[in-house]
Amino acid sequence: MELRGEVLPEERVRSAGFAANDGFSWEWPDKADRVLHFERPRRIWERNPSPGRSRPYVVATFNLKGGVGKTTTTAALAEILSAEFGKRVLLIDLDPQRNLTTMMVGERHAADLDYGDHTLASVFGDVLAGYRPRDAAELVQHGVSAMHTVDSVDLLPSSLKLIALQDDLTQVNSVDPTAILADSLSGILFNYDYVLIDCPPSLGLVTQNGLRIADGYVIPTIPDFMSTYGIPAVQTRIRQLSARWGCPIEELGVVVTKYRRSSAVHQRILDDLRRNRGLPRLFPTRIPESNQIAAAAEYIDFGSLRQKYGTGGQFLALRELTDDFLTTTRIKLAWGR
Ligand SMILES: Nc1ncnc2c1ncn2[C@@H]1O[C@H](COP(=O)(O)OP(=O)(O)OP(=O)(O)O)[C@@H](O)[C@H]1O
Ligand SMILES: [Mg+2]
Repeated sequence: MELRGEVLPEERVRSAGFAANDGFSWEWPDKADRVLHFERPRRIWERNPSPGRSRPYVVATFNLKGGVGKTTTTAALAEILSAEFGKRVLLIDLDPQRNLTTMMVGERHAADLDYGDHTLASVFGDVLAGYRPRDAAELVQHGVSAMHTVDSVDLLPSSLKLIALQDDLTQVNSVDPTAILADSLSGILFNYDYVLIDCPPSLGLVTQNGLRIADGYVIPTIPDFMSTYGIPAVQTRIRQLSARWGCPIEELGVVVTKYRRSSAVHQRILDDLRRNRGLPRLFPTRIPESNQIAAAAEYIDFGSLRQKYGTGGQFLALRELTDDFLTTTRIKLAWGR
């Protein structure tokens, strides 16, 4: 077992079962390969650590399965962290579908930002054109969310153009193609308490740019077979990337979404998720399947977050999840803080 978050030499990486450019290993993650961190690992974006300024918790939301509530969970966490807990949050939308961007600024504004090249695509575009990536400060949208009670959420918007750019990124060899976002963001991350990264359901280079800056990740999942069976592959792959980059990316837990109490399948898979010690911890709060949560995607000021997400217990579940998320990040990402 390794004792520190240092870059594993290529040889040891290979002998530990990590191969530099391999595909997925569909095996259960081996606990023996875990890396323990007793020292504060310096994150790649911390070019000039500012003494006295606390570092944000940077968390990615990821699952290889699409449509499991990654974006909805990320948006709800951000809004509740801001309105209920007074946290300054930066949202980073890495998904070319730009769902999070649309939820946070509305469809029209999302399209205008995309058309005006005022999105994350410009950051990668700069590198593809042979320049340094521009400072994300130029692109961040301040005070997003239609809710008047949410006043401290900013957004780095996404773009449909990321679909094509992602393929081109594989040709980049002048700089590390997984460190572009870190370079662009390094000047602004200290302005936030939480940075939440909404990932597309793939582990391509754009997602890797997000994971590269992440301290940890959560896996939203519907408690059914199709949504959960890829989780061990996600764990394995993220451990490989973490070892390659020499920085920990903690498994913060699995969030059960679209939960139906009456479903026998949901009960059975929930039991499996609880019992399986190889999987990350299960957040105790389950997000119910609810029309109101689905309707919350619309860019409207619903009045209060309770009215937005649901007065029948849905908002309370999301608030409880956020509370648990705060505690989990404070404990699991305590190193060096
Ligand atoms: N708890 C819920 N109850 C009912 N509908 C939900 C719930 N959570 C999310 N949805 C709906 O399910 C759909 C997929 O959710 P979402 O976009 O958050 O998933 P995703 O994992 O981000 O998808 P993708 O992989 O495409 O990015 C959306 O239409 C959303 O409104
Ligand atoms: Mg999504």
